[in-house]
Amino acid sequence: MANHILPVEVQGLTKKFGDFTAVDHVSFTVKPGEVLGYLGPNGSGKTTTIRMLCGLLTPTEGTAKIMGIDVVQNPEAIKARLGYMSQKFSLYDDLTVRENLEFYAGVYDVPESKEKARIQEILNLAGLEHHSTLFTNELSGGWRQRLALGCAMIHNPPLLFLDEPTSGVDPVARREFWDLIYQLAAGGTTIFITTHYMDEAEHCNRVAFMYRSKLLAFDTPVALKNEYLHGAAWDLEASPLLETVELLSTMPGVAQASLHGDRAHVIVDPGQWTQESLTQKLAEHNVAVKSIATVQSTLEDVFTLLAHRGRVARETNQ
Ligand SMILES: Nc1ncnc2c1ncn2[C@@H]1O[C@H](COP(=O)(O)OP(=O)(O)O)[C@@H](O)[C@H]1O
Ligand SMILES: [Mg+2]
Repeated sequence: MANHILPVEVQGLTKKFGDFTAVDHVSFTVKPGEVLGYLGPNGSGKTTTIRMLCGLLTPTEGTAKIMGIDVVQNPEAIKARLGYMSQKFSLYDDLTVRENLEFYAGVYDVPESKEKARIQEILNLAGLEHHSTLFTNELSGGWRQRLALGCAMIHNPPLLFLDEPTSGVDPVARREFWDLIYQLAAGGTTIFITTHYMDEAEHCNRVAFMYRSKLLAFDTPVALKNEYLHGAAWDLEASPLLETVELLSTMPGVAQASLHGDRAHVIVDPGQWTQESLTQKLAEHNVAVKSIATVQSTLEDVFTLLAHRGRVARETNQ
C-alpha cells in the first residue's frame, strides 16, 4: 500500500549557490495525507527546497526521497508522482480554461482514454464547471489560482507542492482555496504548501519554519506554541503607553513589542523575563504598569520569538 510510504523524506538537504548557502542541512519527513505548511520570510530557502524536492535543482549535499524514490537518482519517476504549482505558474491567457487543462494533460502524459474524465473531475473539484469556455485572462485572481492548481494535479499525483498559491489573492478567495486544499487532503493527497500568511499556518497539520536557510522548528501549531512560548506573550496596561512600547523594543530578551489597541503586546524570551522582573525593570524607567497578563499566543508570536533567537545567535557568533 502506498500509504505506508512516506511522501517526503529529507535528510541533511543542502543547496549552495557559490559561497551562499540557500538551504542548510534541513531534515524532516511528511506523512501521507498531511497538510504541511512550509513557512519563513522571503529569501529563507522555501522555493529552493521545493525545487530540489521536485527534481529541478540538484542538492549540494544530503538526500531527499519522494514516495520512497531518490530525487537525484530517479528524477523522471518522481515527476509522475508529484504536482508542482510554482510561484510563477504559467497559464496560457489566450487559451480557455478547458484548453489549459488539456495542455497540461499532454505535458503530464495523462493517457488519452482518461483525459476527458479527468478534466471534468478537475473542473468539478475546482468549481470551474461554468468557466470552462472562458479565456484565462478573463478570470479573477482567485479563479486563476484554482485553475493553476487544477493544471498542477491533472495527472492525479499523491503529493502536491504549492508555492505561495494564495499570494495576492483576496481574503474570500483565500478561504475558498483552503477549503479546496482540505478537500484534497481528506481524499488522501499530501499537501506541501508555502505561505506568507500566518493565519493560514494555523490551518496546517504541521508547520516548518525556515529562517535564513535553516529549519528552526517543525511541529503542530499547538505543540509549537507550548514548546517555545510557555505563555510568554503578554499584554500590558501601562503609561505612558507609546514610550513603554518603544522602551520594551530596545530591551534584551524582548523579541517584539507592539501596540495592541490600548495595551502593549510583548513577546519575551521565557528564559529571560518573568512578569515581575519586567514590571520592575519598567518601573526603573518611570513606567507605571497597571496590569500585565498572559494572552492567547499565536503562531506569529512563536515565529517572532524564533526569528529573534536566530538573530541573537547570529550576532553572538559574529
Ligand atoms: N539560482 C540561484 N542563484 C543564486 N542564488 C539563488 C538562486 N535561487 C535562489 N537564490 C537565493 O537563495 C535564497 C533563497 O531563495 P528562495 O529559496 O527563493 O527563498 P524563498 O522561497 O524562501 O523566498 C535567496 O537569497 C535567493 O536570492
Ligand atoms: Mg519562494
